Amino acid sequence: MPIREDALTDEGTVGHGSHGLARAIFIGLVTLLGAWVGWSACAGAGPELALTAEEGRGRVLYTQYCAQCHGGATGGKLKDIPPRHNANGHTWHHPDQQLIEIVLNGFSFSVESQKMPAFKATLTEEDVRVVLAYIKTWWTSEQREWQAKVIAQAGQ
Ligand code: HEC
Repeated sequence: MPIREDALTDEGTVGHGSHGLARAIFIGLVTLLGAWVGWSACAGAGPELALTAEEGRGRVLYTQYCAQCHGGATGGKLKDIPPRHNANGHTWHHPDQQLIEIVLNGFSFSVESQKMPAFKATLTEEDVRVVLAYIKTWWTSEQREWQAKVIAQAGQ
């Protein structure tokens, strides 16, 4: 009997000890995760505040030439015409080079009255690139990754 009791105590102690370690690791991970979630929440909440110089220039151009038809950072639905360029639209389904061509040369998928005007008389290719850089700040990181893959597949 005493042997069994000792064995139980030892077992209990060892068990408790490793449990405590697992718990410490778990708490550590939760703390790290919390810090990461907090950080990404901040990063997600303030893209407008944390624009690079390029994105900031894109914002000025977008506000002047595009926002009246395509709207802003939020709102809209996938099938809106003119399409939304934010995370609710489908702009992120297309590679940069295709988007640049659409903006410079214009585009009309169906109805003449719902036409994307050509901007090549107004904007340079570099201007359009910074506008795209700004639009991309509205996309989720998954959308940005997906679009980067599409570009890689298209060899652009
Ligand atoms: C007068 C309204 C109008 C203005 C201004 C305008 N667009 Fe468009 N745009 C449209 C319409 C309408 C379409 C959809 C054409 C279609 O589907 O046939 C479109 C389509 C597009 C598309 C292709 C669809 C997509 O999102 O993948 C892109 C990219 C685009 N516009 C970017 C821009 C950018 C950048 C600017 C500013 C430099 C701009 N547009 C200014 C009306 C406009």
